[in-house]
Amino acid sequence: MKSETSVQEIVNVDLGDRAYEIRIGYGLIREIGSHVSDILKRPKVVIVADRNVAGLHLDTLLDGLKASAIEAKSILIEPGEASKSFSILEQLLDDLFAMGVERNDRVIAFGGGVVGDLVGFASSILRRGIDFIQIPTTLLAQVDSSVGGKTGINTPRGKNLVGTFHQPLRVIMDLDLLATLPPRELRAGYAEVVKYGLIDDPDFFEWLEENGHLILSANGDMAATIYAISKSCQAKARIVAEDERESGKRALLNLGHTFGHALEAECGYDGTLLHGEAVAIGMVMALDLGHMLGLADAGDKDRLIKHLRAMDMRATIADIGVPMKAETLLAHMAQDKKVEDGKLVFITGGIGTATIRKDIHESTVLRVLENALDA
Ligand SMILES: NC(=O)c1ccc[n+]([C@@H]2O[C@H](COP(=O)([O-])OP(=O)(O)OC[C@H]3O[C@@H](n4cnc5c(N)ncnc54)[C@H](O)[C@@H]3O)[C@@H](O)[C@H]2O)c1
Ligand SMILES: [Zn+2]
Repeated sequence: MKSETSVQEIVNVDLGDRAYEIRIGYGLIREIGSHVSDILKRPKVVIVADRNVAGLHLDTLLDGLKASAIEAKSILIEPGEASKSFSILEQLLDDLFAMGVERNDRVIAFGGGVVGDLVGFASSILRRGIDFIQIPTTLLAQVDSSVGGKTGINTPRGKNLVGTFHQPLRVIMDLDLLATLPPRELRAGYAEVVKYGLIDDPDFFEWLEENGHLILSANGDMAATIYAISKSCQAKARIVAEDERESGKRALLNLGHTFGHALEAECGYDGTLLHGEAVAIGMVMALDLGHMLGLADAGDKDRLIKHLRAMDMRATIADIGVPMKAETLLAHMAQDKKVEDGKLVFITGGIGTATIRKDIHESTVLRVLENALDA
């Protein structure tokens, strides 16, 4: 789909009057004007970025906007999960008002999932809702958080407990941005790519087994990266279009997350264990559970562990190096927001055959946790 711009792929998120495009390619922020001009009511935007991203890429984005005579102001926030808080949200809203943001103005979320979630939430409540544009800068944000419209912040009681559904007006994925991403963050995002294979696309999982290293190598192979990111966005877009507000099928996207969130909670959110790393280990546990339920082939779990190890990723709790207890992890799981009617929701199955289960007995969960702690 090569045109006069550098867009290589377009994925549509079919949500009726809230449908939007995900544009994927290299060099897109240099020519950002051609990707956003048609959706601006006046040639004026506010960019919100975290300081790391701003230091590396804000000038390029500003130059791109300037070249199309789009006036831009910037708001910088501190990098890190702690910025998804009420106090930062309040500050951000105040800054946006101070900049004269009106009902028809657009805000650009320029960063990883933290910026995307915070700015999406702020946009959804500012003057009862304004439109925003996502320019995700991490692999995790590109394949997951920037698509689908979940926004939110954390409270001391847990992650993402306060938020809204607010779809972006467009998502611009410039894969050049990934070149500066720390390798560990890249691998964490890759876990969510693997997730799409495990949910319902065994062929994609097999493709990743053969080609994953091309995406994670220092100079990231362009064709392989575009393919993997497009595939992931297509998978997410399809599920979101079917079940925008997670009344059913969208829960499949939480594969590995019920276990993963417990590991994250146990490690704290200080960088000991990144979200994607927790999800990778959680997906191994989900396959183990699948095997216990007779839903996964005996070899599925080992196949996933082998792939994660080949990608130089953590695959078991032992890889984290933090002592944990099954009972404590179970207690964390009971507090997860995925609890429904007091029952935990698990996404489990084999490679490419994930299903949603709400009938898993606590003793089975404990067995999975104990297996994982022994591994
Ligand atoms: N809304 C959703 O559907 C959804 C889905 C998954 C995750 N999330 C949320 O996403 C967040 C995690 O997102 P994340 O993993 O992108 O983390 P992040 O936003 O914290 O970014 C990770 C780190 O990478 C840095 N960074 C970002 N882009 C960079 C670049 N191009 N070059 C160099 N450094 C860069 C950031 O400054 C930060 O230090 C969590 O808060 C999670 O809850 C939301
Ligand atoms: Zn996730």
